[in-house]
Amino acid sequence: MNICCIGAGYVGGPTMAMIASRCPDIQVNVVDVNDERIAAWNSDELPIFEPGLDEIVQGARGKNLHFHTRVEDAIRDADIVFVCVGTPTKAAGIGAGRAADLRYIELAARTIAKVSEGPKIIVEKSTIPVRTAEALRTILSANSESGHFQVLSNPEFLAEGTAMADLDNPDRILIGGETTPEGQAAVETLVSVYNNWVPRENIITTNLWSSELSKLVANAFLAQRISSINSISALCEATGADVDEVANAIGTDSRIGPKFLKASVGFGGSCFQKDVLNLSYLCEHFGLPEVAAYWKQVIEMNDWQKSRFTKNIVSTLFNTVTGKRIALLGWAFKKDTNDTRESAAIYVCRDLLLEEATVAVYDPKVDPEQMKRDLLYAGLPENLLDNLEVCDSATAAANQAHGTAVLTEWDEFKTLDWNSIHESMFKPAFLFDGRNLLDHSALTTIGFNVYAIGKGDAES
Ligand SMILES: NC(=O)c1ccc[n+]([C@@H]2O[C@H](COP(=O)([O-])OP(=O)(O)OC[C@H]3O[C@@H](n4cnc5c(N)ncnc54)[C@H](O)[C@@H]3O)[C@@H](O)[C@H]2O)c1
Repeated sequence: MNICCIGAGYVGGPTMAMIASRCPDIQVNVVDVNDERIAAWNSDELPIFEPGLDEIVQGARGKNLHFHTRVEDAIRDADIVFVCVGTPTKAAGIGAGRAADLRYIELAARTIAKVSEGPKIIVEKSTIPVRTAEALRTILSANSESGHFQVLSNPEFLAEGTAMADLDNPDRILIGGETTPEGQAAVETLVSVYNNWVPRENIITTNLWSSELSKLVANAFLAQRISSINSISALCEATGADVDEVANAIGTDSRIGPKFLKASVGFGGSCFQKDVLNLSYLCEHFGLPEVAAYWKQVIEMNDWQKSRFTKNIVSTLFNTVTGKRIALLGWAFKKDTNDTRESAAIYVCRDLLLEEATVAVYDPKVDPEQMKRDLLYAGLPENLLDNLEVCDSATAAANQAHGTAVLTEWDEFKTLDWNSIHESMFKPAFLFDGRNLLDHSALTTIGFNVYAIGKGDAES
């Protein structure tokens, strides 16, 4: 069997590396239009950081795993084509800011139709609006004389930071297909690929629309839990309750469960915001404005939590940060990834720079140029980049700072020498823990004034 994956990004690269590693008899070609990204996949410095990814890639690359830019050749030779291109939020036109931009999906479908010489299974791996398979089928059949295509939906549920473990031992694999005999045969072909390492009972098969919709709904439910606990964090601060104690108290209820109840400065990542906005947009499109408004509020709560955090820094620092140095620890949207898309750190940093602070940032994995690109993309005027300093350690960032804020839960922040950081900062030394990562009572003993998410003053 020969597999082609269009798109060598955060999903395509790791997913195909895992398939190649677990299915030595299958040839896997991962193709992309981005030469630089492909060159990085073929080097010792992979374009993305994921624990365990290097070993899996090194074990299969050059044997049955190939990264290259010959998109048309790879499609022509493949029995199964995974479409793994980006589906960002539309920036202009109808649905701008909410609907999914499907231009890369459409282009991939047109290329498949153009070069295919025989039957193929086309797999939607990208996250797409429900009923996209219908559009794909129409484009494929209208543009191909020889091809006979079966379109399947196989959304990816991996989480960045734990992608390799998630791919190796997924909670479930979801495959949606047409209910016709040809559709079901295609589903079984894809099932047989995953069944090389995933038990059959963990592979769920559904109709196409259920599978497409389930991915959006899964992300919406996950994002909703974070916004729910973050909304409660504000109430905790106002009332003297402690959000971690509340989360523990409710999370032990087996109907609620303990996961995804960690209050924070707000969720980031490329998926939650765009997928919830897309779900909300779809609801409106299908004439369900009340459902649309319900889900949109999940995003509004997240935006509010990010700006609430920044406003708290400004008001705590005596209502002005002009000319003051503020250290931000962490830029990635979560630990163990170098992905920064929609990271809360971008918005906190941008707003502090707009307040004319000097911001000193440290992140163990993020390229400084990426930070600058993120800020400009978030609307920061270019001249304010002069007030951004990217440091090579947390200690350097916090040196001579008026305030230090933790924005990503990197493990190394827990074991920093907080005594010497305290010594090097202006006094009073303010610490804002946007992840509730640190030992707050130990920091208070050192002399820090600590502000944590959702920690009200129980004595007041
Ligand atoms: N990142 C995640 O954690 C995650 C998890 C689950 C699902 N998803 C979904 O998976 C999809 C891909 O996400 P990602 O994070 O890997 O995106 P990405 O931006 O990292 O990668 C997409 C890649 O596709 C390439 N590409 C675009 N058009 C192409 C074409 N016509 N031919 C060849 N290559 C092309 C781009 O150059 C890019 O390298 C999205 O729909 C996303 O919503 C992402």
